[in-house]
Amino acid sequence: MFKRILIISWLLSSISLFAQYQEAEELFDDASCMSCHTEVDFSPKIGKVDNFKKLTQVVDACRFSNDITWFDDESLDVAKYLNHLYYKFKEKK
Ligand code: HEC
Repeated sequence: MFKRILIISWLLSSISLFAQYQEAEELFDDASCMSCHTEVDFSPKIGKVDNFKKLTQVVDACRFSNDITWFDDESLDVAKYLNHLYYKFKEKK
């Protein structure tokens, strides 16, 4: 498992964005996020999740409240993945 993470992090840093989203998709699927959510949940809402920073915060909130063992950069990757698929915010570095 740990070895797999190492290999994946190496891959992530060296190959395309596509692979990054693919890995985030796996993380997302493995964490059963969709046991509570449907795609409809993931859309910008005025006053709530209306920018990329807030998106990363709610992903973290859900990660912690469900005891999901992602590293911070994995959580960020999942936020980017959801942003790419649904929210379409401008990402801030
Ligand atoms: C036990 C149920 C549950 C699980 C599992 C869960 N969430 Fe959530 N999630 C919630 C609830 C409740 C909210 C708050 C909804 C609200 O306030 O509108 C929320 C909100 C969110 C939002 C903000 C939605 C929006 O635009 O308002 C995102 C993004 C999100 N969760 C991502 C995730 C991710 C990623 C995972 C998997 C790591 C996950 N959630 C797992 C219950 C869950």
